[in-house]
Amino acid sequence: MRMIDIIEKKRDGYELTEQEIRFFVEGYTKEEIPDYQISSLMMAIYFQDMTDEERANLTMAMVESGDQIVLSDIEGIKVDKHSTGGVGDTTTLVLGPLVAAVGVPVAKMSGRGLGHTGGTIDKLEAIQGFHVELTSEQFIKQVNELKLAVIGQSGNLTPADKKLYALRDVTATVNSIPLIASSIMSKKIAAGADAIVLDVKTGEGAFMKTVEDAEALATAMVRIGNNVGRNTMAIISDMSQPLGNAIGNALEVKEAIDTLSGNGPEDLTELCLLLGSQMVVVGGKAKTLDEARKILEGVIADGSALEIFKQFIEWQGGNGQIVAQPDLLPQAKYSFEIEAPRSGYVTYMEADEIGTAAMLLGAGRATKESEIDLAVGIILNKKVGDAVEQGESLATFYANSEDISDAKNLFLANFTISDDKVEAPPLVYKVIT
Ligand code: URA
Ligand code: CA
Repeated sequence: MRMIDIIEKKRDGYELTEQEIRFFVEGYTKEEIPDYQISSLMMAIYFQDMTDEERANLTMAMVESGDQIVLSDIEGIKVDKHSTGGVGDTTTLVLGPLVAAVGVPVAKMSGRGLGHTGGTIDKLEAIQGFHVELTSEQFIKQVNELKLAVIGQSGNLTPADKKLYALRDVTATVNSIPLIASSIMSKKIAAGADAIVLDVKTGEGAFMKTVEDAEALATAMVRIGNNVGRNTMAIISDMSQPLGNAIGNALEVKEAIDTLSGNGPEDLTELCLLLGSQMVVVGGKAKTLDEARKILEGVIADGSALEIFKQFIEWQGGNGQIVAQPDLLPQAKYSFEIEAPRSGYVTYMEADEIGTAAMLLGAGRATKESEIDLAVGIILNKKVGDAVEQGESLATFYANSEDISDAKNLFLANFTISDDKVEAPPLVYKVIT
């Protein structure tokens, strides 16, 4: 087989066979095929697209390019959730205990945050003593007994995706639906998921700026999942403003406790119930989304979801007392109210930049090596659609430094108050099953 024939075939709009797809994925992983030929092929795919069968074959070729996590010693259908990335996205912290309380096993591998988006592991490490270094025996035992465990990323998963993504990044071929969809799905499948629920974000702050693009990506991923035997569902949700009220590590742990107790912000609670319902259905613990939702509301109301969160923290070395006494979490030295410069209605909040303001307070990493301050961050007191009076607090900043001027200026520059009332944006645009 020759690489030039594969490039020519795709350039002219023909469908590649499974063998041809495996040939270029394996060849590129082993560095037997040069960057210039693969970048030419990526550009051909960008313009000619891929059929459902090609997308499924590309996904599985990337899965098989490296290690795969084998979770067959865990009983039940292992369900994973993926979010395409957001600001103040506390859903994973809530969803783990929530669906585990219903008996859906959650064996999660999570990452750290970079830039303005937070990582689940950083958030969990805001809990004193909590660690994510488990042996695979501990991990499997914990998921079997508690239904929930989280470990840090390990192993050489999807090396083909790492190389292809780095190449696409510098050859203007990131923004291709078949390439993004296979990239994301390959990572979930290699991490051992039997079933997958996707939260595809849309809005200025998201990767997919329009609902149409987000829907195209979500549909592509759902089809790939179902075509390779992983029951997959998706939600298209809004990321034009941060989710919930808290942005920052310890602050989001507190927000997760509130939500698991039934006292969380409305938007975060609703998104967790929607995503959780899909997880319960693909996990085989309910027939319909409505039935699943009722079960989830039950485990919030009777305290069992919160109890699982406490046990999960203790199993992984953390202080479970924080669930009853969240003020045991790291506390910032100072707090500041950010006052509204004028009266009116909140019409717009640029999620990315609000996330960057939290990062400037120390809640996020500017580079991979930066230390983060687990105590600091932002609590939003107003969201899009709310009325505000001049001088009222838009947000509370928690900081360990008295100088918050950079963060405050960035926040105010990206928080728009106007005379005319706007409706809050819909939380969810579409549910794809
Ligand atoms: N995120 C991914 O993981 N892969 C892509 O191709 C794009 C975004
Ligand atoms: Ca939040």
